[in-house]
Amino acid sequence: MENFIPYGHQNITEEDIEAVSKVLKANYITQGPVVEEFEKAVCEKTGSNYGVCCTNGTSALHLAMIAAGVNQNDRIIAPAITFCASANCARFLGAEVLFADIEDSITMSVESCRALLEKSKAEGKPVKAVVTVDMAGYICDMEAFAKLKDEFGFVWVEDSCHAIGGSWTASDGKVYKVGEYKKVDMTVFSFHPVKHITTGEGGMIITHSEKYAKSLRFYRSHGMTKVPELFQCKEEAFDKNGLVNPWYYEMQDLGFNYRMTEIQAALGLSQLKRLESGIAKRREIADYYRKEFADCPLISFPVVDKEKIGHAYHLAIVLIDFEKAGMTRAAFMNKLASMGIGTQVHYIPVPMLPYYLDKLHGEKFSNAIAYYKKCLSLPCFPTLSDDDLQRVVRGIKQVLNRA
Ligand SMILES: Cc1ncc(COP(=O)(O)O)c(C=O)c1O
Repeated sequence: MENFIPYGHQNITEEDIEAVSKVLKANYITQGPVVEEFEKAVCEKTGSNYGVCCTNGTSALHLAMIAAGVNQNDRIIAPAITFCASANCARFLGAEVLFADIEDSITMSVESCRALLEKSKAEGKPVKAVVTVDMAGYICDMEAFAKLKDEFGFVWVEDSCHAIGGSWTASDGKVYKVGEYKKVDMTVFSFHPVKHITTGEGGMIITHSEKYAKSLRFYRSHGMTKVPELFQCKEEAFDKNGLVNPWYYEMQDLGFNYRMTEIQAALGLSQLKRLESGIAKRREIADYYRKEFADCPLISFPVVDKEKIGHAYHLAIVLIDFEKAGMTRAAFMNKLASMGIGTQVHYIPVPMLPYYLDKLHGEKFSNAIAYYKKCLSLPCFPTLSDDDLQRVVRGIKQVLNRA
């Protein structure tokens, strides 16, 4: 349909296209200097030390789990409301996933996570890693999770696929950018087209730890090394004068080809320049929806503490009481779609997905289920015009009033 407003959309400028064209004419198109430049630029923006680009957010999470040392004997915790990749990354390695419930801010509940950590410890299966998710762009309760980490000693992976450029304020008043807090072991981003910045497909892990960075790079490229000091088969690696053989490399463990291309990195670098302006526009959009629906009794919003959290608003989520409205969410979405307005549901609770149904450990996630019944993501991306926004609000009010 012409004039269809999707819930999310990439923004590609002429400058982006020029940056990509330039790389296409250069010597390298697979991983090379532009990838490194992109990694450094993201580290500078986020206040982190090491960046490791990869093929997407899912492979970034997979690499983070490998670097964390997760294996088939381990358990990890992920929130019930997230994209399935936040949990699947541990399943790729055969580990068990325990699902924690959510808070009213729709991020992982600290209490629910604590209960799972205690239960697992009591069962003699301590949790190896916890994946917190900055859901919709809202940063979870970082200091509370840091306390849990101190107490239970897990590897902390922050799935910030929704929140690059977000921030939060600690109890001592210090403001942390996502990726800056050293208690987090690894922070993961996705550069899928609906995200804040895109590389087509793409992802990155940032970390303050050299040890994790080395491991992430090693497993990103087949578990291979070309570093002579690390070679294990000396007779194969060196000639009789002790010089390294020029063709030689070693595959020392089973890794992957999760490398990003120069083409993608050039797009990412160009997009990164607009990160802040994009977030500012997303915040305006979210504020506009709040203002316009303030007097609408059927619509509420996830809890947002504006004083504490610099929300990145990957998604603008509203909670609609469809039961009271007397219509199903499907009918509501279909009606809006027929008016050219796209919406989406983020997310079906991951433990309700068929793959996970027989793998649960008696976890309870009633908040996640209650949230799922009402949630709807409205259009939110920087190139939405004022006219588009007015159309969305008018359309929603019209459909609800007619219900
Ligand atoms: C919270 C979250 N984690 C992980 C991913 C996976 O990222 P990708 O699609 O880049 O593999 C996504 C993607 O939508 C996501 O939303």
